[in-house]
Amino acid sequence: GKSVSIGLLGLGVVGSGVVHLIKNHQEKLQHQLGCDVKVKSILVRDLEKQRDVNVGDILLTTNPNDILEDAEIDIIVEVMGGIEIAREYIHKAFQAKKHVVTANKDLVALYGRELHEMASKNKCDFYYEASVAGGIPILRGINDGLSSDRIEKVMGIVNGTTNYILTKMSDDGLSYDVALKQAQELGFAEADPTSDVEGLDAARKMAILGRLAFSMDVDLDDVEVKGISDIELEDLKYGEQLGYTMKLIGYADFQDKELEVNVQPTFLANNHPLSSVKDEYNAVYVYGKAVGETMFYGPGAGSLPTASAIMADVVAVIKNIQLGTTGNQYVKPHFPKVLKTPDR
Ligand code: NAP
Ligand code: HSE
Repeated sequence: GKSVSIGLLGLGVVGSGVVHLIKNHQEKLQHQLGCDVKVKSILVRDLEKQRDVNVGDILLTTNPNDILEDAEIDIIVEVMGGIEIAREYIHKAFQAKKHVVTANKDLVALYGRELHEMASKNKCDFYYEASVAGGIPILRGINDGLSSDRIEKVMGIVNGTTNYILTKMSDDGLSYDVALKQAQELGFAEADPTSDVEGLDAARKMAILGRLAFSMDVDLDDVEVKGISDIELEDLKYGEQLGYTMKLIGYADFQDKELEVNVQPTFLANNHPLSSVKDEYNAVYVYGKAVGETMFYGPGAGSLPTASAIMADVVAVIKNIQLGTTGNQYVKPHFPKVLKTPDR
């Protein structure tokens, strides 16, 4: 069949992974979809930068219109990050009837609803599997796997950087600063790691998860947040002596028509399943009334794991194009939002 062309916005940690996967998994994509999938052009800031991926004959450009106005491009993959510029480019993409896949939780947590509405209006797809828990197919797990269930609780480790820092501090005795620096070098941290360590990145992911799990308009402002920036090696050592491991836990609970969502450092007993989730790995526990307890586990950050989630979305978009349908990862809210009154 016809080949499908992708325009990539960003060629950093995640963008490079996407280029790598498309090149190396061409045979599987071809087999699955019956067409070639290729990256036609990539938006970057700096054309001179040394890249650790071979882009071959792909056009690198600093002009977004080279991509957003290119009629041959079917799908925009946004992996540049940031909020307002990314939002503007995605608006343009939908106006030009291009489907959009993004890894940008900052944007989805704030403007998910707006972008979804715009996608629907233009009969475009809008997917963002990579925005939550890196390589773990958690949005599909909730939206497809548990679609008929009534989910009451979602809880877990949804930030790779902070889990990496806490693991390296408690297992290897590294200082907070050294562990953070390593997480940055490995490509796990956000461009500004403040959002990781202050819990905001996890809060964004909990807002996205809460929306999908509970079919409710969960806003970022509804999430109470505390990060790990003031945690000291001493605190971890003290917990260890008592048989506890510290983790940054996201918690979302919807029971008796009341919603509670928060992110905070939490001491877990060493035999708790989430205690054994190490380094940049994430794990999300989901309790559904029918299914009972489920657990999703895997790499929560990093180039290829995140690119794997992006490619699942790209494949979904291409299948929709072939079927002449559209899809998205948004559930129309059908429960009113009542925040739980804190009993403190
Ligand atoms: P990154 O390594 O900093 O890469 C960002 C890329 O976007 C760079 O190639 C940069 O160009 C380009 N870019 C940024 N702003 C631009 C602008 N205004 N105009 C043109 N190009 C611009 O970031 P990343 O780690 O790949 O993350 C990308 C997105 O994925 C973010 O939304 C992040 O939250 C999300 N995400 C990341 C991970 C992860 O493990 N890293 C996992 C899940 C989701 P230059 O290369 O020229 O500087
Ligand atoms: N900075 C994020 C993290 C990337 O460490 O989890 C994955 O979303």
